[in-house]
Amino acid sequence: MTNAHLLTADAGTAADTVLEIDDLSIEFRGGRRRSWAPRSVVPAVTNASLRVPRGRTVGLVGESGSGKTTIGRAVLRLVEPKHGVITAAGFQVDRFRGSPPAAYRRAVQAVFQDPLGSLDPLMDVRQILGEPLRVHFGLRGAAREARVRGLLDMVGLSSAHLSRYPHELSGGQRQRVAIAKALAVDPELIILDEPVSALDVSVQGQIVNLLADIQRDLGISYLFIAHDLAVVRHASHEVAVMYRGRIMEVGPADRVCGAPQHPYTRLLFDAVPDPTPRALRTTAAADQPQRKPEPGIEAAANGCPFVARCPLRMVECTQTFPEPTPVRGGGTVACHAAADATPGSHN
Ligand SMILES: Nc1ncnc2c1ncn2[C@@H]1O[C@H](COP(=O)(O)OP(=O)(O)OP(=O)(O)O)[C@@H](O)[C@H]1O
Ligand SMILES: [Mg+2]
Repeated sequence: MTNAHLLTADAGTAADTVLEIDDLSIEFRGGRRRSWAPRSVVPAVTNASLRVPRGRTVGLVGESGSGKTTIGRAVLRLVEPKHGVITAAGFQVDRFRGSPPAAYRRAVQAVFQDPLGSLDPLMDVRQILGEPLRVHFGLRGAAREARVRGLLDMVGLSSAHLSRYPHELSGGQRQRVAIAKALAVDPELIILDEPVSALDVSVQGQIVNLLADIQRDLGISYLFIAHDLAVVRHASHEVAVMYRGRIMEVGPADRVCGAPQHPYTRLLFDAVPDPTPRALRTTAAADQPQRKPEPGIEAAANGCPFVARCPLRMVECTQTFPEPTPVRGGGTVACHAAADATPGSHN
């Protein structure tokens, strides 16, 4: 395969891309340290690019505060980017002035960690699912009831749940209702922000499998945000790894999780409970267990945010954040040191 061919395949076309994020940066105004000081600026997302192919799941992982939710909120148009282009379901999101058009709000849905926050406690399941059908499609009466029952069936619930209120459902059942509510308006993309993090492990698997079944049947795409690497690996076709607002590595889930190239990704996977005794592990991260940030080493604003903790750091890492470089096995890594060994070489 030639490089030109690879590039075309990577870039994709509008028809096979449901979400394209290009060079997205988002800042928040923080508090003041002193009353006379200017407000600090929190760079929540910096120059992030990401693509979700149609009918696929892209997992977004990274430790708390790395910017995962902020990316999801930008796609939903709940935060205003500093710069960058977001194209989702054929709409250029950053061009919206004010709230997005109804067609966009239908096409891009969201499911959050805690459905109690998004399901009206005063509505039963029939009303929760019937409401979007009325608002967006004008459905009423028997037609609406049939569609509500179809949605319940799709998420593995039955008509016995129609008259339940959210607090009368288990966590897993509530999340099924939240998913059904998202599906009610025929979305192209669902932003799943920690959709199983609050659930028991056994229920997590059921919900992840349900999402996969729905994707297979309906061709819906997911941006799957989570901090649990095992869940993300199982749920995603591709995985993107964030650290302090930067996308460090992306690629096929098996490649990123099985052969991580970025020192941060390796550290992340080293923190996952692993049945292999530490002494038998051979990853670079295992060779550098729990490396603490080194005092005195600090990245410039444009440097790599991981530099102080990085076992492979070089002088340029404090100065410039590296361009994403293609990696053998698929995807890219943004690392001066890791990029030296790839692409095209062994390992
Ligand atoms: N509304 C806000 N105002 C100010 N700062 C914010 C706001 N929302 C997020 N931040 C900051 O932006 C950064 C990214 O936060 P974000 O919630 O996107 O992280 P996350 O990766 O989703 O973390 P978690 O795993 O804890 O959910 C953090 O430093 C956070 O404190
Ligand atoms: Mg979050």
